[in-house]
Amino acid sequence: MKRLDQVLANDGIPAELELIINHIMVACKDISYKLGQGELAGILGATEDENIQGETQKMLDVISNDLLKDILIANPAVKGVGSEEEDYTIAGNKDGKYLVTFDPLDGSSNIDVNLSVGTIFSILEAPQDDRTGDQQEVFLQEGRKQVAAGYVLYGPSDLLVMTTGNGVNIFTLDKNVGEFVLTKSGIQIPEDTAEFAINMSNQRFWEPEMKQYIDDCLKGEEGPLGKRYNMRWVASMVAEVHRILIRGGIFMYPYDSRDPSKAGKLRLMYEGNPMSMIVEQAGGASSTGRMDIMDVKPEGIHDRVPVVLGSKNEVAKVVAYHK
Ligand code: AHG
Ligand code: MN
Ligand code: MN
Repeated sequence: MKRLDQVLANDGIPAELELIINHIMVACKDISYKLGQGELAGILGATEDENIQGETQKMLDVISNDLLKDILIANPAVKGVGSEEEDYTIAGNKDGKYLVTFDPLDGSSNIDVNLSVGTIFSILEAPQDDRTGDQQEVFLQEGRKQVAAGYVLYGPSDLLVMTTGNGVNIFTLDKNVGEFVLTKSGIQIPEDTAEFAINMSNQRFWEPEMKQYIDDCLKGEEGPLGKRYNMRWVASMVAEVHRILIRGGIFMYPYDSRDPSKAGKLRLMYEGNPMSMIVEQAGGASSTGRMDIMDVKPEGIHDRVPVVLGSKNEVAKVVAYHK
């Protein structure tokens, strides 16, 4: 079986990018170990701090963030990093060729109940004619410009799911040797599905288009969509996207009116974009409901975005409801 470093070496990507991905995995293996220690290491539960988005940080959010940040900032190919858990982007080497954004621990409400969580990352090229001198400005690129994206799902097995624009590979962490090994390649999401994932408790806050689509799903065989749907909600985007990658499905975290100043709950640069790249590379689709997520121009590192992604034909139906 091929190891991650062997696969990357044959992928035709620049050596600097290869090293960045390998470094992210050094941190992720450490995160995996820490998650496994959990209560034994006294690292479950919350800190007294909030991140810039007003969410209480879990101890493991902070630990995971520090592991990723420290190794990436020390990598000479990294011009800067942006993280869910950092208020502002952080400068690395000013001559670095790449920018990395990440969600160090996604689904962190699942930590204390011992369910699946993940790490999400997105890699962009750093503009070389950068005259703005503004560290954040250089990050504000559309998702289409990503050169690599991936996530690590910490579950019964720890998996790395990744793309460098040449399809999607899945690696399994062999904990006996501490290496990610290639276990599946050329992942294709089934085009049709009858399984949706959405937090139904927010229904009254959705836009009418989303309400209508879900109402029609619930009508089953007798409704306009003509099939009986099943529903799942793990509250961990990494776990939902992974389920969709393996057996199809549609995941939605739409705009809702709880806080009209926010365009949704999920963040464009380290949740929406990397997941969209993976899903599209696996033959699926991703949209805000009105446009492709990867065409949205970010205005800030923590911008939010409505997310609809998964099986291509089902995403097309949701988009049609928004026309
Ligand atoms: P994070 O833990 O990084 O803040 O992200 C959690 C996200 C996402 O993973 C999940 O789909 C969603 O929030 C769950 O939200 P609800 O608690 O509103 O269901
Ligand atoms: Mn998240
Ligand atoms: Mn997170």
